[in-house]
Amino acid sequence: MAKKRDELSTERRKNSSKSRVRTDQPSNSANSSSNSNLPLGPQNLIIIFIVIPAISVIVYRTLYGPTAATIVPSVYDRNLVKAEVKYQEIIAEHSRVSANLSRTFQHSVLAYVTPWNSKGYEMAKEFNSKFTHISPVWYDLKSQGANLVLEGRHNADKGWISELRKKGGAKILPRVVLEAVPAYLLQKKKQRDKAINLIMGECSEMDFDGIVLESWSRWAAYGVLRDPDMRKLALNFIQELGQAMHSGGLEMESKKSLQLVYVIGPPHSEVLNEYDFGLEDLQALSDAVDGYSLMTYDFSSPQNPGPNAPLKWIHSVMQVLLHGTDSSSQTLAQKIFIGLNFYGNDFALSGGLGGGPIIGREYLSLLERHKPSLQWETNSAEHFFVYSDDRNDQHVVFYPSLLSIAERLRVAHTWRAGISIWEIGQGLDYFFDIL
Ligand SMILES: *[C@@H]1O[C@H](CO)[C@@H](O)[C@H](O)[C@H]1NC(C)=O
Repeated sequence: MAKKRDELSTERRKNSSKSRVRTDQPSNSANSSSNSNLPLGPQNLIIIFIVIPAISVIVYRTLYGPTAATIVPSVYDRNLVKAEVKYQEIIAEHSRVSANLSRTFQHSVLAYVTPWNSKGYEMAKEFNSKFTHISPVWYDLKSQGANLVLEGRHNADKGWISELRKKGGAKILPRVVLEAVPAYLLQKKKQRDKAINLIMGECSEMDFDGIVLESWSRWAAYGVLRDPDMRKLALNFIQELGQAMHSGGLEMESKKSLQLVYVIGPPHSEVLNEYDFGLEDLQALSDAVDGYSLMTYDFSSPQNPGPNAPLKWIHSVMQVLLHGTDSSSQTLAQKIFIGLNFYGNDFALSGGLGGGPIIGREYLSLLERHKPSLQWETNSAEHFFVYSDDRNDQHVVFYPSLLSIAERLRVAHTWRAGISIWEIGQGLDYFFDIL
């Protein structure tokens, strides 16, 4: 659902920027046509093309040279990571990013990038050094009649991939959603082999380092997890895939070992039901899977407005998932990428429930329009504010802040777990400072 909203808001954004471009154009063309009416001799040309730019460069160097303000200190040195945040401060500081791009968080960082939000592609390049894994959301493995097809090559951007490779060492693992009808896929060896070959063939051809696989939610929807035999076959398929990827495959020319990261949801309660992915499943897959992308977000909803991912809830999800703190669950915890949302929610409280996900730009425009006072909620470790819209309906807005992210990094660190970010184009630029 967050995804759909996100697509919508991106569309809105595209449209609004398009209309801005259009309104800009007339004044530009008016200028250029009036210039072209001037008689331009060689001396004028020298002044325009050499003298003026030279002077501007000198003036610019004097004002903004390396000795002046180009070196932006970190958000910690600017004292921005705190509970008492003013909206003016966010507006003034969010786009100023520290010149130091070294990592500060010691564990793995997986960054999702979606094709419908191009800002994520830029962030992945700019902050490549902050990530260990980058996952562009590109592929679906689908049934087509009795056949299987891997769709999404049209999304894959080779130029962007090679730029990422030049910038840093983050592994590139596109996400593949398993949409294929499970009854065929899981029960027929030929189909399973086909699925594995399609995935590995794409990795080899596109030079990926592996994939992030999402299938659990689909299997739940198809009823696979209710049937103990099917559930077992489902886990077996992930094992087969992981083993093949680690060995580089039998039919592949290059024997590069590929990584498999598996997407899991938070357990619904302390007593697990068959839909929940739990400790036994983690253990069963521990050799086959290199990491688990744990979706610890969307705790609240329009029907039940509140924080997106209360910190205590994240902690208890980890406890339920790993119950016990022996050394084996320590190693398992290190494989988990705790999910962090870089989007927020704008919930309508009165006049009919409603509202939903917002991204950085929308958050900033709410700050500018309503000049709210932000509050820190200690229990959830999230910032929020309340405002009234044009019809006098109350809204509550939860959106990540430097402190809320820092607190989650701290909890992840106590588990020695990594983090996964959905998704990096939805945040504010200075968030990357603390990763
Ligand atoms: C950059 O940040 C890292 C990690 O916080 C730190 O260890 C390093 O000293 C910083 N480098 C500079 C040049 O400030």
